[in-house]
This record gives sequence, C-alpha cells and structure tokens, in this order.
Amino acid sequence: MIILGIETSCDDTALSVVEFTEQNGQISCKILANAVSSQTELGIQYGGVFPAMAKQEHIKNLPIVYDYIVKETNNIKIDTIALTVGPGLEPCLWTGITFAKELAEKLGVPIIPVNHMEGHLLSSLLPEFAIGKEIILRDFPTNAISLLVSGGHTQIIKINNLGDYEIIGTTLDDAVGEAFDKVARMMDLPYPGGPAISKLAKISRTQSLEPRTQNLKPVIFPRPMLHSKDYNFSFSGLKTAVLYHIRDNPIKSDEDKIAIAREFEDASIEVIIKKIVNAMQEFGSTHLLLGGGVAANKYLQSELARVGQTEGYEIYYPVREITGDNALMIAIAGYFHKDIINTKTELKANGSLRL
Ligand code: KG4
Ligand code: ZN
Repeated sequence: MIILGIETSCDDTALSVVEFTEQNGQISCKILANAVSSQTELGIQYGGVFPAMAKQEHIKNLPIVYDYIVKETNNIKIDTIALTVGPGLEPCLWTGITFAKELAEKLGVPIIPVNHMEGHLLSSLLPEFAIGKEIILRDFPTNAISLLVSGGHTQIIKINNLGDYEIIGTTLDDAVGEAFDKVARMMDLPYPGGPAISKLAKISRTQSLEPRTQNLKPVIFPRPMLHSKDYNFSFSGLKTAVLYHIRDNPIKSDEDKIAIAREFEDASIEVIIKKIVNAMQEFGSTHLLLGGGVAANKYLQSELARVGQTEGYEIYYPVREITGDNALMIAIAGYFHKDIINTKTELKANGSLRL
C-alpha cells in the first residue's frame, strides 16, 4: 500500500510518499520521497510562528513540495492520502485539508484523517531513516508510555493499545519546547531556541563547569512541580525565573549564557525524567516511546537512557530526521489506521486531542 502523507499543522509544509508491506505480522516501510519546506527563516525574522503568515506559506509551498515528490517518485500511483487534521493551528490545518480533498478527488483515492500527536507517538517505531530502503518497523508495544515533547505539547501518554491512549500528564502552561524558545530569545539566541540552548548547555557539561556560576554567583532555577503527585508540568514559572535572573544579573559574556542555558536545561529535563520514572513505575510499563521536536535533545535522550537502564525498560527514540514535524510519521500513523479510511465523516480541522 502506497500512502501520501500530508502535514501542515504548524509552520512546516511536509509531504511524504511511503510504501508499506506486511509479512508475518511485521510491517515494513520504504520511504519513496520525503520533503519538508520549513518556515524557519520567517521564524527567525519574526521570532515565532504567526498563523495567518504560516497559512499563506502553506498555500504557496504545498504545490511546490507536491511537484517535487511527484518527480522524486516518477509519478507513482498512490493508494491513499494520510492527512493531519489536528491538533494544530486551524488556518494551517485547513490549507492541508483543502489541498488533500482536491488531490484525493483528482487521484480518486480516499483520505485517512490522522492525529498529529499520534504521528509523533508512532514516529519512534521507525528505527532508521533511509530513502528507498525496506525498513522493518519496531513492534507496537501495548504496555507502554509515550513522552511527547514539542513546541506545542508536553504530554505523558499511557498507551493501552493502538489508538487507545490516555493523556495522564500535560503542561499546565508553556510547552517545554516553547520554554526553550522563549529563554533563548531572552538571551538573543537564534530561533528555534532548543538546539541553541542545548549547544551551550553541552559546553558547560563537557567542560565540567561546576558549579554553574555567573560573576561567581551560582545560577539556580526552580524545578516546577518536581514533587507534585501527578504527571503534570509547568514551565512558565521556570521561564519567569530565568527572566528575573537576567533582569537582576545582566548577561555580560558568553560564559553567562552558558551558565543560564545549562541550569535551564538541567532544571527542565530533571522534572521530565522524574515524572517519566514515576509513570513507568506506577503502570509497570515495559516500553517508552519518545516523540516531538524536543526529542532531538541529546541530554534528554541520555538521561532517559540512564534511567531506562537502571529501571529496566526499553526506549524507542525517533530518528533525528523525524523528531520535528514531518509527513513520514503521518503516513505511518495513516497506515496503522488504514481500516478507518473514512468516506462517511466530513473532514474538518480537529483542534482537540482525538487521541
Ligand atoms: O515538533 P516540533 O518540530 O514542532 C511542534 O509541533 O512544536 O517541535 C519544535 C520544538 C521547538 O520548540 C524547538 O526549540 C524544539 O522543538 N527543539 C529542541 C531541540 N530541537 C528542537 N528543544 C530542545 N533541544 C533540542 N535539541
Ligand atoms: Zn509536532
């Protein structure tokens, strides 16, 4: 089965054509084409994503990216379209829906509606990224927890079965990626802020700069909700602590930035790790599935690996190529839900989390 994945929920216009085969209960996929047109340049210019502007970019980019993948695949016949219908920015989702509907009609193929977060959740089933190669997907685990960390979400999800998910923890305010982006902005670091902060924090870690000091004063930020008896997060207070710190201790050098980045990354990831360990223990889960843009964070990955080894559970990491928003994960999610190809329900942007 050949699926065309379409993703336009935020500021990336992404299309992917993937061929799926199944043998002895194992699913293989061959990526025939995969393209993302990012609006990172605009993000850098304006310091974030603006829905009306992002929508115009999608309208402009969709036909261009589509032409590209048609050429890449020698106009291969697709069987169905897998389309992100939410959650995301409504104007952006609608550009994808409008484009997909017209294309589905033209090609005479059905559309599988896909939840963007389920795409991130399933992305870690892909063990490697290679175009044109037959890749066997990891088995879908039924006793698992998923950690989805992006610019829009920070969620801990209990996986009961395919399509049967329970959000057991979420952020009460800013998403972790959003906090990385905002803290980066306070330090005049480039957008998106996650990689920039992480790079500085790594310098501190590799040089063993302990204690983290700025003008000989230790930099200490709070670990919000570390001891709360639930799986929820709050990153807004941490972000504000950084803001006040910079107001009271103006940044004078790169060393100052390094100290702040290190403590901010330590604080945010310490909370995530604690909640994950608690959730894995409470539910006796055997697998942890990581997904979302912040999943690319190497310190988060190494801390998860450390606790995973001590506690004895397996971790599925997504390959770097599909930690951020992409259409390959949408095609994968579409394949898992190929039985719900829907012709009866009217496609509409679904802002709520239909996980
Ligand atoms: O999943 P994604 O591409 O888009 C959303 O759906 O939000 O995630 C983007 C987010 C941004 O906030 C970005 O700063 C963050 O992921 N990010 C990182 C890293 N790489 C990307 N955060 C921390 N460390 C990273 N290495
Ligand atoms: Zn996303």
